Amino acid sequence: MARYFKYKSPGDLAADARSFGQELRLRNDLAPLFQSIKVGPRTVGNRLCIQPMEGCDGTLDGLPDELTYRRYERFGAGGAKLLWGEATAISDAARMNPRQLWLHDGSASAIELMLKKCREAHRTAGFDGGDLLLGLQLTHSGRYGYRRPLLATHCPLLDPLTRDKSTGLIVDASYPIVTDDELKRIEDQYVTAAHFAARIGCDFIDLKQCHRYLLSELLGATNRAGEYGGSLENRTRLIRNVIGRIRLELPNLILATRMNAFDGVPHRGEGTDFVGVPVPHSLPVTTAFGTDPDNPADPKLDEPLQVVKWLRDAGIALLNISLGNPYANPHYVRPAEFPPVDGYHAPEHPLKGVLRHFSITSLIQQAVPDVPVVGSGYSWLQEYFPAAGAENVAAGRCAFVGLGRGTLSQPDFAIHLRKSGALERKTICRTFSYCTNLMRTKDHPLGQYATGCPPFDKEVYGPLWDEVKAKRPAGS
Ligand SMILES: Cc1cc2nc3c(=O)[nH]c(=O)nc-3n(C[C@H](O)[C@H](O)[C@H](O)COP(=O)(O)O)c2cc1C
Repeated sequence: MARYFKYKSPGDLAADARSFGQELRLRNDLAPLFQSIKVGPRTVGNRLCIQPMEGCDGTLDGLPDELTYRRYERFGAGGAKLLWGEATAISDAARMNPRQLWLHDGSASAIELMLKKCREAHRTAGFDGGDLLLGLQLTHSGRYGYRRPLLATHCPLLDPLTRDKSTGLIVDASYPIVTDDELKRIEDQYVTAAHFAARIGCDFIDLKQCHRYLLSELLGATNRAGEYGGSLENRTRLIRNVIGRIRLELPNLILATRMNAFDGVPHRGEGTDFVGVPVPHSLPVTTAFGTDPDNPADPKLDEPLQVVKWLRDAGIALLNISLGNPYANPHYVRPAEFPPVDGYHAPEHPLKGVLRHFSITSLIQQAVPDVPVVGSGYSWLQEYFPAAGAENVAAGRCAFVGLGRGTLSQPDFAIHLRKSGALERKTICRTFSYCTNLMRTKDHPLGQYATGCPPFDKEVYGPLWDEVKAKRPAGS
């Protein structure tokens, strides 16, 4: 298959963007990345954010385990000042896999220790702990719950792709959707989890609304009846209720949200080259948020722009913008050189995916200039991500540059950028999807493989990768 990333200079990369009629601006001077910024009442020491990166390496009770502690120590020591802790479930039913972190009475002190080790590692590496902002992403996996799917609505695009593991059946119109009363109990669970998070020392919590997990699916639930569906007011009722309650009960906790601004439609591989194409769907598409109903390859941002204004007014002090669905259209979420095992070859040049992230994030940041916005989708740019990020920050197109996959291969990227103005060449993420492939492998005694970077964090993840490879059919 085509290799896309073959650039010898920033000029080559920018020229490719121009060849699609777009512009990628790059800045040699990385100083904008090292300016501090206010988030709510706090000052954050630089513009580098470690995105939420689940390691799928907790215990079955939702506690961090050896590799989880290790990851947060490496992130803490790495010098980025906004550490966006990974998806952490608000209940067992909310978990996406059996090794996902789960915040409850029995796990709170262990997660507290994880955060403490992260802060200690930051200080031990010589950084000031006062301008580090460390939080957790609170999640309900909804449709992607590992025990059984909890649907916010029947989505004609996603239902045919959703299997109830408890019966082995694909969900259909007879499968129940979550009731309004159940959603009210889920509101309570978010508030309880926020109390735990505040107690164990989170500076902020993220009420996760991305990647078509429960709150993200609700944003698109135009076809749901009752208090939580239909109008945009109703579709945002749960998040607004949760924010309102947490504001009253925990006024010092900074509230953040990672939100999808564009869902798009699912894709699947077709033909001998297994290139992604949209699954068959009828128009208009009405259950994909931020998506043009008549031309769902395109974003339509009127609703996302309205929602971020409401959320700001409700008390959200930090936003992180993402796109797509990691199971149904991963090329929107994380532009990649090679697809993951459950994916398809890129239906578009990955640079177009990166530029989609940049342009959508920029429009969101302009709509709420007083709320710092974290941009996503940088890893595919490899050694050029810092120059693109510096330009985006300098131009006010986002406040923070969020790095995902690249943090697994090079958690100390901020130190390298500060010292030499460049990443450490040997461990730059090449977006070959090893991390996602480990994550997608369930054939493990605990029901889930841990994930990390097999090529560049070889000592730990190389042996896991060898095991996974040995279990796969030849050629896959
Ligand atoms: C192994 C892995 C784990 C991830 N875990 C999370 C997560 O817990 N929460 C989340 O919102 N996104 C998660 N993501 C998505 C990333 O945060 C990020 O949005 C995505 O990788 C695109 O950014 P990048 O191009 O810098 O990698 C994960 C991605 C990968 C590959």
